Amino acid sequence: MSEECLSSARGTFEAVVSFNRRIGPGFCRLGLEFSGEGAKAFAHFEPGQFAQLDISNTALPSPEAVPDHLRDAAGRNVLLRRPFSFAQMTAEGRKTTGELLYGVVGPATVRMTTLSAGDKLSIIGPLGRGFRIPEGKKTLLLVGGGMGTPPLQHLAQALTSQGSGIEIIAFAGARTAEALPYEGRLDDISQQLGFSLAEFAKCGVESLVATDDGTAGHRGLVTDHLLQWLEQSKLTPDEMMMCACGPEAMLARVSRIAAERNIDCQLSMERRMACGIGLCQSCAVECRVPGSSETIYKMCCEHGPVFDAKEVVF
Ligand SMILES: Cc1cc2nc3c(=O)[nH]c(=O)nc-3n(C[C@H](O)[C@H](O)[C@H](O)COP(=O)(O)OP(=O)(O)OC[C@H]3O[C@@H](n4cnc5c(N)ncnc54)[C@H](O)[C@@H]3O)c2cc1C
Ligand code: FES
Repeated sequence: MSEECLSSARGTFEAVVSFNRRIGPGFCRLGLEFSGEGAKAFAHFEPGQFAQLDISNTALPSPEAVPDHLRDAAGRNVLLRRPFSFAQMTAEGRKTTGELLYGVVGPATVRMTTLSAGDKLSIIGPLGRGFRIPEGKKTLLLVGGGMGTPPLQHLAQALTSQGSGIEIIAFAGARTAEALPYEGRLDDISQQLGFSLAEFAKCGVESLVATDDGTAGHRGLVTDHLLQWLEQSKLTPDEMMMCACGPEAMLARVSRIAAERNIDCQLSMERRMACGIGLCQSCAVECRVPGSSETIYKMCCEHGPVFDAKEVVF
């Protein structure tokens, strides 16, 4: 999507909560419905873009429902909006529905657990730049670590529903099985078949799971699993592409793997964001200047969150 088109489409909209369900110990999936101008704007939400949610008026859960480790932080005021990607977006008639997946990590996300069907939220978006898949790629490797899965799920959904014909394989990693933010059952048979995660299987995408402690899938880092796959692959580098989202250390490793093999790679970077629209300078990402040893700072909210891996300095 062009910059002009992006800026004309974005705005502040009201979304109505359609569901909010817990899918794991610290993860929830939130359904949102947009109508009117919001439905038009979010119908163009690209995988990898984000939106800023206003949680300031959302109630705190009862004290016993707040996880012990968040007891002190939970009571803080949530003055600033919080950035979230979407895991799915579907435009049908005059309504656009989106699903976001969130980890409960602090005052805003603790409050989000109290949202229920019919509640209204103010949302600014679509913001930033999403993934861009060039023509001619045969295979797309998605690499997600921990809570990095939502924009990759959205990308898989968007490409398969467009009938892009590109083969997609999702690599999903976390410290342990409980930290995998997925709803699907991780039984041995579905893991062997490669369709262990329902979120990817429903759009026909194979998923390969890795956990650091071996409690689900491959034992070890998701990037080691990716390397093993690449070593066995017969594809040439220009037939492949990688898109990754997750912890910075994982992104750095994915970036190095891509550079060593000359594979196109895009990374969705995360930074604390205050304004989300390029004004406050709180979300700087150090980037290389092509043809020079100098670096510059680009704003993650405006130039990203998706960057070409070659650009980012780790
Ligand atoms: C572009 C973008 C997309 C995102 N998409 C999702 C998503 O789909 N699902 C999801 O669960 N979260 C996502 N996040 C992170 C989400 O914004 C934070 O988890 C949320 O703001 C936490 O708010 P809080 O008040 O609950 O916790 P806070 O008190 O604000 O943070 C709790 C802890 O998380 C760390 N943290 C918070 N935000 C970030 C960040 N951006 N980068 C690194 N560390 C951070 C803090 O340092 C702190 O330790 C995204 C962030 C960005 C920038
Ligand atoms: S969040 Fe303000 S400049 Fe990026």
